Amino acid sequence: MNIIDIILKKKNKLELSEEEIKYVVENYVNDNIKDYQMSALLMAIVIQDMSNDEINYLTKYMINSGSTFDLSKFDHVVDKHSTGGVGDKTTLIISPIVSACGVKVAKMSGRALGYTGGTIDKLESIKNIKLNLDEEEFMNEISDIGLAITSQTKDIAIADKKIYALRDATGTVESIPLIASSIMSKKIAMGSKNLVIDLKVGKGALIKNLEDARRLANIMIDLGKKNNMRVVCILTNMDIPLGNNIGNSLEVMEAIDILKNKEDNDLKTLCITLASYMVKLGLDIELEDAKKMVINNLNNGLAYNKFIELINYQKGDLSSLKKQEAKYVIKATSSGYITNLTADFIGKLAMHLGAGRENMKDAIDYDAGVILHKKNGDYVTKGDIVMSLFTKKDINTNIEIVTTNEKPMEEKLIYEVIS
Ligand code: URA
Repeated sequence: MNIIDIILKKKNKLELSEEEIKYVVENYVNDNIKDYQMSALLMAIVIQDMSNDEINYLTKYMINSGSTFDLSKFDHVVDKHSTGGVGDKTTLIISPIVSACGVKVAKMSGRALGYTGGTIDKLESIKNIKLNLDEEEFMNEISDIGLAITSQTKDIAIADKKIYALRDATGTVESIPLIASSIMSKKIAMGSKNLVIDLKVGKGALIKNLEDARRLANIMIDLGKKNNMRVVCILTNMDIPLGNNIGNSLEVMEAIDILKNKEDNDLKTLCITLASYMVKLGLDIELEDAKKMVINNLNNGLAYNKFIELINYQKGDLSSLKKQEAKYVIKATSSGYITNLTADFIGKLAMHLGAGRENMKDAIDYDAGVILHKKNGDYVTKGDIVMSLFTKKDINTNIEIVTTNEKPMEEKLIYEVIS
């Protein structure tokens, strides 16, 4: 077999066989296939697409490239994934809620890249917290308190790690087959038999429209079925940031406010929905009953207590979290309904302030970010404070808040649920 023949076959829109896909994944991991050859194949895949069989084989050999977890000793385990967005701190809120309902959460999370945040960076804004758990620590924590969040335990889906880094550098991230196999290889390797995916759609998301989102959802559900995993995909709006705080420590503080019932916003609504589906799957109960449990455990403080238990178990010091003085405030320069505070705009602004990284090796400022006092679609009067900016940098604050006199249509938060 030969990589050039395989590249040409895909370029000519022909279907690759199981043996060819196995050959590509194994030889790329072993460095026998070079980055430039893999890049050419990835670009051919982006342009020519993949069949369901090809996606299935790619996922299978990416799983086989690394270790897998066996969570079978635990009852009621559920995992959650978000395809990424701006202000998305749902894992910090949902994991303790779901765990307080008696469902175990074994969560491996990632870091920020570009303007999309990462749960591990958010948690790292808590002083001393331990997030690189080894397998034994991870399993013990799930046994002891019913949930654990780690950056990396063992080498899960090694091929995906290598291919994803290459995709990121070669403009080949935005391919539904590549996204589906990347997400599902990691999730299947993590060993949970139940998975809720928050599939973000919109300006600040990888997937820009509902048609692509539905295709991605159906492929991931199908991959789940083939691997004995029940998958629910919830298609949600990422045209505007989720919640009001964007930036690592700011997002942890907002998550705590939700868990303490101090906030009632779009973020809370979404968390209740995602958590309800996780509890439904984990306990095998009706959605309405799951939702009642979720709301009860939020209201009675058990979810917040579980969050504190998680942070204490992983040796984090929450007293280190303090709201800083805003360095800049941005005011409305006209009256009307705000139109330009989209997720991509705010995500890029937060990254510029130091909250995100352009390259994986960049350092981040955990306290940097944005608090949105008003969001897209809100009415402002000239002079109202719209945003507070937190940064150690000196920046040009000539940021225009664009308004219109026409009241915009209310945006949907949750588009649809596919299972
Ligand atoms: N998240 C992943 O893990 N992989 C992708 O390809 C895209 C988003």
